[in-house]
Amino acid sequence: MPLLAIETTCDETAAAVVTRERAVLSSVVASQDALHARWRGVVPEVASRAHVERIIPVIDEALGRAAVGRSDLEAVAVAVRPGLVGSLLVGLAAAKGIAAVRGVPLVGYDHIAAHLYACRLARPDAVRDPCVGLVASGGHTTLFLVRSPLDLVRLGGTIDDAAGEAFDKAASLLGLGYPGGPEIERAAAGGDPRAHRLPRPLANDHDRLDLSFSGLKTALRYLVRPPGAPADSPPPTGRRRADLAASFQRAAVDAILAKVGLALEKTGCRTLLVGGGVTSNRLLRESLEGLGRDRGVTVVIPPRELCTDNAAMGAIAWERLDRGEDDGLDLDVRPGTDRRRSQ
Ligand code: KG4
Ligand code: ZN
Repeated sequence: MPLLAIETTCDETAAAVVTRERAVLSSVVASQDALHARWRGVVPEVASRAHVERIIPVIDEALGRAAVGRSDLEAVAVAVRPGLVGSLLVGLAAAKGIAAVRGVPLVGYDHIAAHLYACRLARPDAVRDPCVGLVASGGHTTLFLVRSPLDLVRLGGTIDDAAGEAFDKAASLLGLGYPGGPEIERAAAGGDPRAHRLPRPLANDHDRLDLSFSGLKTALRYLVRPPGAPADSPPPTGRRRADLAASFQRAAVDAILAKVGLALEKTGCRTLLVGGGVTSNRLLRESLEGLGRDRGVTVVIPPRELCTDNAAMGAIAWERLDRGEDDGLDLDVRPGTDRRRSQ
């Protein structure tokens, strides 16, 4: 009998039905991008309210597409960390309600570990632990030593902005829409990545596995609007915008690549797992695959719909259910940050 997984950590309301054999019977994601676009970032209260409206229809849609009734469920899983507290609580309340009424186990899971678990769903035979794991999203940019699906040791990560946040801010500076990653990627397609010299902060620091994106963002800001230029000067357009987008994208990807390469060297791992919305970026995907080819490392990059937030990756909860674990109705959220060791 399958598992219902629920995901409301940030601004996607998602539910999925996954069998014990890790077959994804359905995966439904209701994006809130349109609601947050005018603010060019996620507004927590807007996100929580939207989750409240959407969570039941999204769950019903996931069950319907899988042709599974509530009484067919073996367990309910929900992402309980990290994330926005109001958003997390909506998913938790829904999960508790269904688990309590059906009398089935309720298991909480870590959203970041789940992003990397998506690699095991996509290519189960390719993953050989231990692996290096890269999660790059709107809220996180972190490198892990992955000893097993539930045993992640943080190796390093951003000391300021997340990679996705940097893409979102860069898009805003260039007068592009939200979310910024896909917009930058589109604009960059017509630009020259060598047109502007932008920094790759910390990329040459071979002692640390930390990343930084705020200096890159500031450098872009000064290119877009030099010191002394009026604050209301219009954003760049045409060829100049394309060149700036391409140069930014190349610098951000290079900064990530440098630390992924270093993490592989330091750990000696032969497998790289990748997850999070930024890893749907084509240049990053191709560059990571190239790095893998050069070093003889297996690079596992899930399809795009498993890179951005989704509940199918909640299949990770089976790893705990297989051990007979059940958090029960005392389960609570742990908003926290990504700077912790996942369980
Ligand atoms: O994993 P995700 O869907 O949600 C979070 O957990 O944050 O990641 C969303 C982030 C956004 O910042 C978005 O701009 C970025 O991923 N993103 C991209 C691309 N698609 C989404 N960044 C670069 N290139 C893309 N194609
Ligand atoms: Zn995410």
